[in-house]
Amino acid sequence: MEGKFARHFFVCVNERPAGGKPSCGAGGRAILAALQAGLGKHPESWSEVAVTEAGCLGPCFDGPTVVVYPEGVWYANVTIADVDEIVREHLVGGRPVERLRYRWPAT
Ligand code: FES
Repeated sequence: MEGKFARHFFVCVNERPAGGKPSCGAGGRAILAALQAGLGKHPESWSEVAVTEAGCLGPCFDGPTVVVYPEGVWYANVTIADVDEIVREHLVGGRPVERLRYRWPAT
């Protein structure tokens, strides 16, 4: 394995003042906490998976936003209802949840 972790989840918790560009803020913090709680239930994965808070990741209009490295899998519009599936399938199982994948707009 290259690097320390097989999968490293970064969750945007950036919070901007109201009235400007949107931000993941409280929604991102809730997703972060739920992913960390999910990982907490799988001690077999603690040495190979990490969940870390992050600043703005880019797709601010589509948050809460999560990116997983080294695969570079992006999730957007993540809800608490999605977290169990992300934990089971991707965080523990190593299989990205295709229906939640964020596709960057073509430039
Ligand atoms: S504020 Fe979360 S992606 Fe920009």
